[in-house]
Amino acid sequence: MGVYEVIQNRRTIRRFEQTSLSIVQLRKYVDAARLAPSGANLQPLKYVIVHSTEMVNRMFERVRWAAYIAPDGTPELGERPTAYIAQIVNLEIKKSGYELDAGAAMENILLAAEEDGVGACWMGAIDYAGISEMLRLKEEEKLVSVVALGMKAEQPVEEAWQGDVKYYKDENGTLHVPKRPLDEVILGEM
Ligand SMILES: Cc1cc2nc3c(=O)[nH]c(=O)nc-3n(C[C@H](O)[C@H](O)[C@H](O)COP(=O)(O)O)c2cc1C
Repeated sequence: MGVYEVIQNRRTIRRFEQTSLSIVQLRKYVDAARLAPSGANLQPLKYVIVHSTEMVNRMFERVRWAAYIAPDGTPELGERPTAYIAQIVNLEIKKSGYELDAGAAMENILLAAEEDGVGACWMGAIDYAGISEMLRLKEEEKLVSVVALGMKAEQPVEEAWQGDVKYYKDENGTLHVPKRPLDEVILGEM
């Protein structure tokens, strides 16, 4: 699969098979993040791989799923993520303006996972204080976001735009994700 095809196929996954991902595979996704572009090449981002059963369960209690369709988007027992990667910024390396670095690096994780057929959900609606404590982050280490990972147990689809940003599940439980059309997002061609 070429990169463009990976980009087209990637959808946020919130239901997972319970086969675990190897630490080698999880480290590969952090490596993809490590290689992302970084303003002034400061590379202020760090990562914690969460993959033990105990820590994965504790993480699940501290993240919120699919606000538009809550509680229907929350994975049931037996379809929850099998790993998480927490993205952290070291404020001693960069105090502000790291958000673009963070976005580029997280997208690299999502795309590298997608290429392997691994599902991912980037999560910002999280208990920042609770997760920071759980990961024993130091004062200069600030949690940016987390990504939930696991083998896919669903395949959401891109939806033709009908004027609403809200994703929804159809009668078969398939998630439909509306995307604004190309001609709406191109402001000009000069
Ligand atoms: C910065 C950011 C934060 C997000 N936070 C959450 C979250 O907390 N919980 C969740 O279920 N999905 C979260 N998502 C996933 C979005 O809901 C999802 O990307 C969006 O609905 C579009 O779907 P797609 O990723 O399949 O294109 C987040 C996505 C981004 C980019």
